[in-house]
Amino acid sequence: MNDPAAATGVRIHPTAIVESGVVIGPRTAIWDGVHVRAGARIGRDCIVGEKTYVAYDVRIGDLVKINACVYVCAGVEIEDGVMVAAHTVFTNDRFPRATDPDLGGLLTSAPTDATLTTRVRRGATIGANCTIGPGIELGEFCMVGMGSVVTADVPAHALVLGNPARLAGLVCRCGEPVARAVAGTVPCGTHRCACGRSVEWSGSA
Ligand SMILES: CC(C)(COP(=O)(O)OP(=O)(O)OC[C@H]1O[C@@H](n2cnc3c(N)ncnc32)[C@H](O)[C@@H]1OP(=O)(O)O)[C@@H](O)C(=O)NCCC(=O)NCCS
Ligand SMILES: [Zn+2]
Repeated sequence: MNDPAAATGVRIHPTAIVESGVVIGPRTAIWDGVHVRAGARIGRDCIVGEKTYVAYDVRIGDLVKINACVYVCAGVEIEDGVMVAAHTVFTNDRFPRATDPDLGGLLTSAPTDATLTTRVRRGATIGANCTIGPGIELGEFCMVGMGSVVTADVPAHALVLGNPARLAGLVCRCGEPVARAVAGTVPCGTHRCACGRSVEWSGSA
């Protein structure tokens, strides 16, 4: 699509920069000062909050809520129903340098062989002001507490907190906690939520 705003009900604030080749699904809102780089794809019914940056070729699913000032670097894939709170930063390079001595010049911010893929699975929540390490998978419906630094994969439904983020419990799909970790572990088995759903935990953390 050459004109992302042509999709039904898409709202793009006049101060947002949406580069060529970007695809934006119906009813998605792009707020003020957002920058979406070439080739990014954003699904339907999403909100991209003010001053957020979405890098080249990033994939964002449907019903995704991204708050203000989020940095979504190249290599990030965000599935449906994910929430990313304000000032969260993704990373994609484990040992970064500004320049490549073999090339003798500045690298661009476009993806390179060193770019690691980070996947945020369906329904996950990332709290405000988190840093997500490179090459990480955040499992379905997991929750990352505000201010956390995530350095390892997060299992589905896990609640993780701190720097480095550690298992603190389990959360239901509805967002309510269903178990608290004791000494960093949660008992294996079925953990029931007041909403009627349950979380199966196999102890992987
Ligand atoms: C992680 C979170 C869900 C935990 O909520 P909770 O289960 O009600 O936690 P509590 O407030 O009962 O705190 C439990 C313990 O964890 C600690 N804790 C809570 N959140 C923490 C965080 N983000 N990082 C580190 N420790 C945290 C508390 O200090 C407390 O420690 P203590 O037992 O030693 O006193 C919540 O604190 C959080 O971060 N929510 C996300 C908020 C956010 O970013 N919203 C974005 C949209 S505005
Ligand atoms: Zn529930």
